[in-house]
Amino acid sequence: MESTTNLSGPMETHEILEQLRAESPARIEHAATVDELEILAAEVTGKHSPIAAGRRSLGSVPPDERRDLGRAINDVAVELNSLIDTRRAALEAVEASKALEGDRVDVTLPGRVPERGTTHLIQQVMDEIVDIFVAMGYTAATGPEAETEFYNFTALNFPVAHPTRLESDTLYLDYGDVPEEILLRTHTSPMQARYMERHDPPVYLVVPGRVFRRDQLDPTHSPVFHQIEGLAVDTDITFGDLKGVLDHFAREFLGPDIKTKFIPHHFPFTEPSAEMHVYTNDRWMELIGCGMVNPAVFEAVGYDPDEVTGFAFGMGADRLAMVRHGITDLRHLFDPDRRILEQYR
Ligand code: PHE
Repeated sequence: MESTTNLSGPMETHEILEQLRAESPARIEHAATVDELEILAAEVTGKHSPIAAGRRSLGSVPPDERRDLGRAINDVAVELNSLIDTRRAALEAVEASKALEGDRVDVTLPGRVPERGTTHLIQQVMDEIVDIFVAMGYTAATGPEAETEFYNFTALNFPVAHPTRLESDTLYLDYGDVPEEILLRTHTSPMQARYMERHDPPVYLVVPGRVFRRDQLDPTHSPVFHQIEGLAVDTDITFGDLKGVLDHFAREFLGPDIKTKFIPHHFPFTEPSAEMHVYTNDRWMELIGCGMVNPAVFEAVGYDPDEVTGFAFGMGADRLAMVRHGITDLRHLFDPDRRILEQYR
């Protein structure tokens, strides 16, 4: 049809219009998409169409024929435009419903189940240990990880020149010129002093928490590890009570047949002091530091050592987790590899 847009006379224009009127409705009806229809519409009624060309030629048509020809051009244009509009509406409706179809959610598909997190093995072990003592009537409390030198050492009867106060063992925090040194607590024992200062006896306390020492990470050491502290203070507490409570704990945590022994040790804040060892994997293993609360500690916190006696103990949760699960390298516990962590859900 393009070659016919150069019209040379009214008769020829009439013929072309007739042809357009005859052929176009079927082509419009066959347009399969809105895009296809727009291309066709431009061809049939657009700027470069025979209809536009016919309109442009009207000026050179003799006046007596101009009206007829003008009307004929308009009639065809109106007719074809109306067909195009109808077809466009139909195609748009089809395309809109196809788009909706594609967006439809299939509610019968199985959902994506998010992966569940899990409590870290060390936390599981700490929770379990705390539960064993809570079942015996103990109260759980936690304390600050950034601690004063007073609570970490002095209140616990560490001599001024005790070697673990040195920077080679203990991590000090630099708060500038402060009246008292602030450090990362090297054990959970400072909570013994903090708790007794604020509570009257009797005391039955367990304190789970994170502690810090200046150690290199290796299979059995970490600069960050976890302890559970215990403290019992009452009017007639004996070393027999200490052994009974820790034996009970060992059987609850490691099984009813576990063998334990207590051997002498030294801590500044207990007197006498001991280590409880357990027999596992064909050898004795040191598990818990313990002892009778040193009267000097009672004095530091305002308790009367003639009125009360008590015992204290501290155990490493990381080591207990290793014993319990047969883990030989402590570093596995701090490895973010989920294949390791997922074994201990
Ligand atoms: N605080 C000691 C340590 O970290 C353990 C301990 C606690 C010993 C309580 C006796 C009494 O090694």
